[in-house]
Amino acid sequence: MNLITPADLTTDQINTIFSLTERFQMEEFSKLMEGRTLCNCFFEPSTRTSLSFETAMKKLGGNVINFNKDVSSQKKGESDTDTLKTLEQYADIIVLRHPNKEFLYNYQSKCEKIIINGGNGDGEHPTQAILDLYTITKYFDTNKQIKILFVGDIKHSRTIHSLETLLKSYNESFIIDYYPYPNCSRDGDNNIDSFEEINKYDVVYMTRLQKERFESYRKVQSTIESDNYILTPSVVSKMKEDSIILHPLPRNEEIDPSVDECKQAKYFEQTKNGVYVRMAILYYCYNFI
Ligand code: NCD
Repeated sequence: MNLITPADLTTDQINTIFSLTERFQMEEFSKLMEGRTLCNCFFEPSTRTSLSFETAMKKLGGNVINFNKDVSSQKKGESDTDTLKTLEQYADIIVLRHPNKEFLYNYQSKCEKIIINGGNGDGEHPTQAILDLYTITKYFDTNKQIKILFVGDIKHSRTIHSLETLLKSYNESFIIDYYPYPNCSRDGDNNIDSFEEINKYDVVYMTRLQKERFESYRKVQSTIESDNYILTPSVVSKMKEDSIILHPLPRNEEIDPSVDECKQAKYFEQTKNGVYVRMAILYYCYNFI
């Protein structure tokens, strides 16, 4: 099956992916994808998504090829669609990241191989959302109320868009508030305007300003650099002891590096979970229709 948005998955399917994730952490399964090839087709920069997919596929015994746009025939004027049609001939699974939100939706109907959305513009990033939720389930009972604060570029952050979709469809335990950067809010959201009441939240989900989605981000940038939006150890000291801080990474200035020492900081653990969750996603998408 393809994975384009978290809305493609039912709660049962998510729970199956989580059970597989647990198993892949405990035992070696180095033959499950033997003979299969994944192609990382990234038309935008990536560190974690591409390399964790590569690690995941290799741990399952599969092969990985990585498309690098900067040394490809795109330099000779080849279109994105022709490039992908070519890559499809070499691979069983395509992980696609593309700056244009609509490109994936159009390409999906033409693609003859399994396709996984690795981030489409300011649209969605379903595999990140699944690993984010998995990380939340490691700390909280999802049958009880969980209060989440999304901080940052609410409007353009595809990780927020996918995670909020997933939380709403997964069950009714999640209460979501937003603390948006200036010019990064949406109508209708439950917005707050400072970290004053940060002690109310179980999960604080930070994001960077998506500079690449702005014509001019400099004005917003200078406002973020004022202390109001930056998570420092002094802000974290007001958080509940058992709350957690997540961030899809990369971070810019929104989390002071000294916060890494705080017990609430779980973003590198979240990154690590990404490998096992993506192993489960690869196995599931390849084997189930
Ligand atoms: C995110 C992305 O690419 O959307 N990164 C990631 O995949 N972990 C977040 C971001 O770039 O800000």
